[in-house]
Amino acid sequence: MKQIFLAIFTLVSLNLSHAQTLPADLKETMKAIGADMKKLMAQSSNAAANADSATISQDLVRLATHAKQFLPDTIKSLSGDKRGAAETDYRQQLSQVVQMGSDLNLAFSSNDNGKAAMILKQLNQSKREGHSAYKEN
Ligand code: HEM
Repeated sequence: MKQIFLAIFTLVSLNLSHAQTLPADLKETMKAIGADMKKLMAQSSNAAANADSATISQDLVRLATHAKQFLPDTIKSLSGDKRGAAETDYRQQLSQVVQMGSDLNLAFSSNDNGKAAMILKQLNQSKREGHSAYKEN
């Protein structure tokens, strides 16, 4: 019995520590955001998956918040006013992603799949804008 409890405790701890791990750089953070978006797009109209979708949306919020502390190379290579303006704009765009992720969490939590689909479209638009401004090739 003791061993079973220990095994469960270890599994839960591993799971929690995994959930709290954040990627070490922007590329990996973006990759993880991309993976969350892929899952959300695939299950956004499946009401039975709404609780899981709400959790994934929360993860997207966490990752987009994390992404704000990095700067892409396209901004690092700038200097002076141009760099300052780009940094502000970059963080603002990611703040919008954070806000949308939070709205998405609410939409799934309240089983509003129509609204969730709309927000996912907006997120894809933000992705396009952010990448055309700051992602190389
Ligand atoms: C839901 C929205 C977004 C998704 C799903 C997304 C997803 C991705 C993915 C999959 C990559 C490629 C990672 C790789 O190389 O394997 C990437 C890279 C990148 N994204 Fe996003 N992104 C989003 C929003 C944004 C926004 C809003 C910005 C800027 C404000 C941004 C800036 C970048 C940059 C600069 C890179 C290149 C990072 C590097 O290689 O160092 N992304 N993103």
